[in-house]
Amino acid sequence: MIVAGELSPPGDKSISHRALLLASLATGCSRIRGLSPSSDVESTSRVLRLLGARIPELSGEIFIEGVGIDGLKVPRSSLDCGNSGTTARLTAGVVSACAFRTTFIGDPSLSRRPMRRVAEPLRFMGAEVTLQNGDCLPMTVSGGSLRPINWSSGVASAQVKSAVLLAGIAGRVTVTFTEPHPSRDHTERMLAQMGVTVRNTGNRVILEPSDSLQPLDLHVPGDPSSAAYLVALATLAQRGSLTVRHVCLNETRTGFYRILARMGGDVRLLSEREEGGEPTGSIDARHASLAGVDVTPDEIPSVIDELPLLACLAARANGVTTIAGAAELRVKESDRIFQVVSNLRQLGVEAEEFADGMRITGTDAPMTGRVITNGDHRIAMAFGVLALDPRNSIEIDDPGCVAVSYPNYWSDARSLLK
Ligand code: S3P
Repeated sequence: MIVAGELSPPGDKSISHRALLLASLATGCSRIRGLSPSSDVESTSRVLRLLGARIPELSGEIFIEGVGIDGLKVPRSSLDCGNSGTTARLTAGVVSACAFRTTFIGDPSLSRRPMRRVAEPLRFMGAEVTLQNGDCLPMTVSGGSLRPINWSSGVASAQVKSAVLLAGIAGRVTVTFTEPHPSRDHTERMLAQMGVTVRNTGNRVILEPSDSLQPLDLHVPGDPSSAAYLVALATLAQRGSLTVRHVCLNETRTGFYRILARMGGDVRLLSEREEGGEPTGSIDARHASLAGVDVTPDEIPSVIDELPLLACLAARANGVTTIAGAAELRVKESDRIFQVVSNLRQLGVEAEEFADGMRITGTDAPMTGRVITNGDHRIAMAFGVLALDPRNSIEIDDPGCVAVSYPNYWSDARSLLK
């Protein structure tokens, strides 16, 4: 297999959600270029429109006239967040300060994911939050005036942290938020760009209330999580070299690349400039022989979405790879520990499942079989890297589910195969 060429990945999904939410609450007109074309980001724009935000049809460049921090309106219907946990959890934070009732629903996958982790801090701040199905959606938030919060979260989760920070912004109260390991910090960076005082000391964030948010002028950098699949493909190729341009190189997102380098991967991150408060640059990658590694709990937040991909690369590495401290994988779009291990085994790879991780023994034998994605985009794309290698014969049961984050994944990846 030869993998060669240059490509820009789609705009970062996490930054895109935040840009839509915060531009909607700003005072003045924001300009946003390069939004993620994913169905998850469409879910955020649909939900915000129902709340009265002035979001035009999404395209390469959009302008959003903010309604101001207090400008959201009672929605006409329940907010359907589709497959998107970020949409549900971050928007719940925003409406906690709104004096009306909002109900969040989602697709069957989102309806199985835990929401108590956001309900609890938002209740502490003064919102009334009910979960009608144990820990899960539907979730109803009756908002109002909020009190300051000093919260220590049991999980390292940027979605929980961002929900609380957004409640702090919307309710104009001070927030101190502590987590076990630092999670992605895009919300903090974007708020700082909008004139908010926010201090981040790794695993603690302190946010001061602000009267208004300045509008954004943002070119969303490419998604390092989407770029990772292309870099993995170049790593497994026999020849060629790949350059991925205009990628977000925020350290809270680039754990995959650090671990890949530790496995022996030939991957270089070239920082170029800061855009919208985020470091951006390009990534060069080419073939390398990989060796198994141990991935430790402190590394997990910075590689959380790439762990299925890392497991697929570990299946092609020399020796054993272990992943520990990753219980969060069980509550993603699917139970990604079960889904990864069962699919690898089905392809003839030795793999073992633990409560909070997995152990994989690499092989160079050809792989044959059908991958069950359970509708999970990251399972489809991770195993897609193995499926695109002509030495294997692998079918992906639902290739279309990649639209959740990277609709052009298959055509982008195939355009690099020479
Ligand atoms: C995200 C945070 C992570 C990540 C998800 C996107 C975000 O989830 O897995 O894909 O945009 O804040 P958690 O915060 O639940 O770890």
